[in-house]
Amino acid sequence: MGAMLPPMRELYPNPATDVDPVERYGADDRGAPGGDRPWVLVNMIATVDGATAIDGRSGGLGGPADKVVFGAIRAVADVILVGAGTVRAESYGSPRTPPGGGAPPRLAIVTRSLDMDLTSAVFTDAPADRRPIVVTTERSDAARRRDLEAVAEVMVAGDDDVDVGLALSKLAAQGAQVVLCEGGPSLNGHLVAADALDELCLSLAPIVAGGSSPRMAHGLAPPHVTGLRLDRVLESDGMLFLRYVRASADASASAVSAASEQSPS
Ligand SMILES: NC(=O)c1ccc[n+]([C@@H]2O[C@H](COP(=O)([O-])OP(=O)(O)OC[C@H]3O[C@@H](n4cnc5c(N)ncnc54)[C@H](OP(=O)(O)O)[C@@H]3O)[C@@H](O)[C@H]2O)c1
Repeated sequence: MGAMLPPMRELYPNPATDVDPVERYGADDRGAPGGDRPWVLVNMIATVDGATAIDGRSGGLGGPADKVVFGAIRAVADVILVGAGTVRAESYGSPRTPPGGGAPPRLAIVTRSLDMDLTSAVFTDAPADRRPIVVTTERSDAARRRDLEAVAEVMVAGDDDVDVGLALSKLAAQGAQVVLCEGGPSLNGHLVAADALDELCLSLAPIVAGGSSPRMAHGLAPPHVTGLRLDRVLESDGMLFLRYVRASADASASAVSAASEQSPS
């Protein structure tokens, strides 16, 4: 880690100082989750009161340590899945070579409207063999799809909405084993509704933001909640880096029953 960075500690499960996030996230087990889809990891940053953006962007929530963890998590991904709202809000660029080298992950942008700036760096900076994948619907505008084909690979999955389960299967068929979803809340909501979340990495910023920012997964309520198991807690400069993985089927069932017992009748 660079000399300017505040030290990173592991608080759980193995307390330690001077932890290297690249090594820690890189050593995590991400086996095939079953079915024909890849391992799906969602990485988000939120304030303690659950805000995912301040003034429409997440940039003000993190600090240097968060940037290191963000890069360490990208390094384990074959594909970065991201909603078009986030690409527009956060001025996404082409993913860079990960720490430690190797091929950068490929970007896959989910959009119904195809409202994307074809001259933006996310397209123009991508190497010819790693052009972004634009994941869209059957009903999207055909002429606009053809325009996008000049700068991206266009993948159709679903009629009105992108069917994220189908899109994940198609990415797996192209060889993706680990798909990292970097949000935003709407896309995360679709992933949760499709029961397609294996790992959640949450950077918890020591900030209370108030306001009306959406929670990290936002949308239609799924038929059941996804139970998670806390796997690791890192800390740097008051920021917590929480890693959760999907709980076993038994633990998920008890989380569902606990949630329903708390519901008003
Ligand atoms: N805290 C964090 O870690 C974090 C991470 C990411 C984003 N953010 C913040 O979140 C905000 C953006 O939120 P958002 O919910 O609008 O972001 P989003 O999920 O990135 O974008 C929503 C857009 O993505 C497309 N989309 C998502 N799911 C789709 C589906 N199943 N089918 C078809 N299209 C789909 C649509 O694009 P079209 O409109 O093109 O049809 C939709 O309008 C920004 O303020 C950003 O800063 C925070």
